[in-house]
Amino acid sequence: MPSQKTQVAIIGSGPSGLTLAQLLDGAGVESVVLERRSRDYVQGRVRAGVIEQGTVEILRRAGVAARLEREGLKHHGVEIAAGERRYRIDFAAQSASLTVYGQTELTKDLMEARDASGVPPIFEVDEVVLENIEGDRPRVRYLRHGEPHTLDCDFIAGCDGYHGVSRRSIPASVLTTHERVYPFGWLGVLADVPPVSPELVYASHERGFALCSMRSATRSRCYLQCDLDTDLAKWSDERFWDELASRLPAELAARVVRAPVLEKSVAPLRSFVAEPLRYGRLFLAGDAAHIVPPTGAKGLNLAVRDVDQLAAALAAHYAERRDELLDAYSAAALRRIWRAERFSAWLTSVLHCFPGRTSFDRGMQLAELDHLVSSAAARAAFVETYTGL
Ligand code: FAD
Ligand code: DHB
Repeated sequence: MPSQKTQVAIIGSGPSGLTLAQLLDGAGVESVVLERRSRDYVQGRVRAGVIEQGTVEILRRAGVAARLEREGLKHHGVEIAAGERRYRIDFAAQSASLTVYGQTELTKDLMEARDASGVPPIFEVDEVVLENIEGDRPRVRYLRHGEPHTLDCDFIAGCDGYHGVSRRSIPASVLTTHERVYPFGWLGVLADVPPVSPELVYASHERGFALCSMRSATRSRCYLQCDLDTDLAKWSDERFWDELASRLPAELAARVVRAPVLEKSVAPLRSFVAEPLRYGRLFLAGDAAHIVPPTGAKGLNLAVRDVDQLAAALAAHYAERRDELLDAYSAAALRRIWRAERFSAWLTSVLHCFPGRTSFDRGMQLAELDHLVSSAAARAAFVETYTGL
């Protein structure tokens, strides 16, 4: 049976696993990334697009920000619409900015950096099992093309997303989970049409939430709040664009360009936190540890911050034989995670149409948005959290 050794076994090659491998490499710590899917599948997944400045700095340190800084779109404000009303929230007063750059592009940059390091992820692994997590020498067993393999390591980083094996390897008696499932999802499309506005538009409408984002001056990424049982077959391109236009203020609706969509998918919305994030020599990071509803654009940013913290802790272990950072990882990360959970759940609750929403509930949502745009203090607090200052 083929067996391999490394210092850190990383499960999952999403943004958290790949960024962790990059950061560890920079600190002289060896790792091996194991991924269930194929490389093309991982690179093709269309997801996040909004990158905080702090995330850019971590990616720069990891040596993977050059293209992002060259091609990413720098944003200095965001628009919130409610019915026909439009408000712009400016980041400039706080010298804040965001970069719009697709997760697919970031994943490509990270994969190329792993190739250049000479240790690319091992793709298409199956039946991953984590063993001896409580001991000094954990082992990962897996199948590749039907053949059994083992990977011996000092630590395991569970970066395998919400449905991964890592979190499930922690005994139920140790793990506590906290969850809110929302009664709707997001229907997202990608299309080669210019964005309706140069900045992102978050629209709260009687018919449901809509978001107009982008990937470039000629490519849009748009989302509609949808039912959980949405059947993609019933959403022709024409229906999507009509529905999007119906949820935007007239001025913006007039700028919706209808074109064939390149990708269409539905994502359910969930808030989720697992704790602790450490069990023996297993550490959870990214979506394996927590999920935020996408409204606040926090998921990818949280994942990168988790692994930055974890990489620093592992580097201190190897370079200085100091374990305080590893011991502190779970509590420190959870504090940051809960703050992002608060913001994402709040923004979701203010912008979406919940089943059974009364006219009073709608009045509360509109008052909340009115407070946000008319109070300098509320705007400053929003910018601080939304941009991740
Ligand atoms: P993942 O990206 O889920 O990667 C986990 C990897 O582990 C996957 O490749 C998976 O195949 C692999 N894996 C799973 N199980 C196993 C196993 N047993 N063995 C080996 N490998 C395994 N975030 C933002 O910050 N900004 C946004 O604008 C934003 N928008 C979003 C829009 C949508 C529609 C969605 C769905 C998400 C959005 N997010 C956003 C969230 C963001 O995409 C995720 O938070 C991010 O992908 C998390 O990265 P991760 O590496 O932790 O997990
Ligand atoms: C995008 C996704 C989000 O969840 C969000 O809040 C903003 C933008 C995007 O895919 O561009």
